[in-house]
Amino acid sequence: MEKVILDMDPGIDDALALLLAISSPEIAVQGVTTVAGNTTVEKTGLNARRVLEYVGRGEIPVYYGSSSPMTRPLTTAEHVHGLDGLGEAKIPMPRQLPSLGGIQFIAETVANNPGEVTLIATGPLTNVALAFILYSRTPRLVKRLVIMGGAYHLTPYGRGNVTPLSEFNIYTDPEAANIVFNSSVPLTCVGLDISTNPSVKINRKRYEAIRGLTGKKAELASRIMKYQLERWGEVEVHDVLAVAAALRPEIFQTVEMRVQVLTHSDASRGATVAVKPREGEKNNASICTSVEGEKFFELLLSRLSEPG
Ligand code: RIB
Ligand code: CA
Repeated sequence: MEKVILDMDPGIDDALALLLAISSPEIAVQGVTTVAGNTTVEKTGLNARRVLEYVGRGEIPVYYGSSSPMTRPLTTAEHVHGLDGLGEAKIPMPRQLPSLGGIQFIAETVANNPGEVTLIATGPLTNVALAFILYSRTPRLVKRLVIMGGAYHLTPYGRGNVTPLSEFNIYTDPEAANIVFNSSVPLTCVGLDISTNPSVKINRKRYEAIRGLTGKKAELASRIMKYQLERWGEVEVHDVLAVAAALRPEIFQTVEMRVQVLTHSDASRGATVAVKPREGEKNNASICTSVEGEKFFELLLSRLSEPG
């Protein structure tokens, strides 16, 4: 069993990723840290608690992390995730509130389990970057970091979703992303290059398959996805792919690249420029370039259908 910390900004697809993670016996979720991104950190923290308590997993601890990007004002995405961040699906508020200290939780858990903890980050990288600079051994003690973030122009789907160059998580906190990409942490990137490929989207047919399942997980998943399905006819499950990449690397193809995050100009803010490393130059990221869409969906469907 792999020890995992999920750093998220729930968010509809973060919530689905959380459901997949807690339903997967291959990994032991040590805790969830939340960050400002899709909505405020107050709401992302509450939303993680709402999801966990709704499916009877309230024992998993949730911690608030950073309430804003490192140097820039917060830009949220309620138009994509609903005013509450969970698709306005009226999921009950939690009985237990998140704790404070998310960044410290990441650093201490990694330090107490050297080489054993995988970080899966599906929001802006503010918490991860702060853990890396405030507790400077962390990048060397982490087993690996899997992120949902970036648009690497390695497939026809690899363009940005905030600007043509920039993906939301990196755009929101490019300085944090720059720290992470330059930290030498073993890094796997799930970018828009695969997450906006139609082969992995939840279309109406796949939505009905999930809605037809019994149990609280499937019910929660279909209730929160409704918000996006009604507006766009499909649901992009970017963050679920990051958890799947940790669970089933064999269904993904990756390339080793050297990535630079642009932070200086507004026009290129949060762009992730990926180039082949020169002879003797180290790559800093394994970037996913394809995934077997049907196998990915079967994994999600099977885990949502299992009780507990
Ligand atoms: O660009 C997609 C990413 O931004 C996903 O993590 C989604 O939840 C939003 O945070
Ligand atoms: Ca997210």
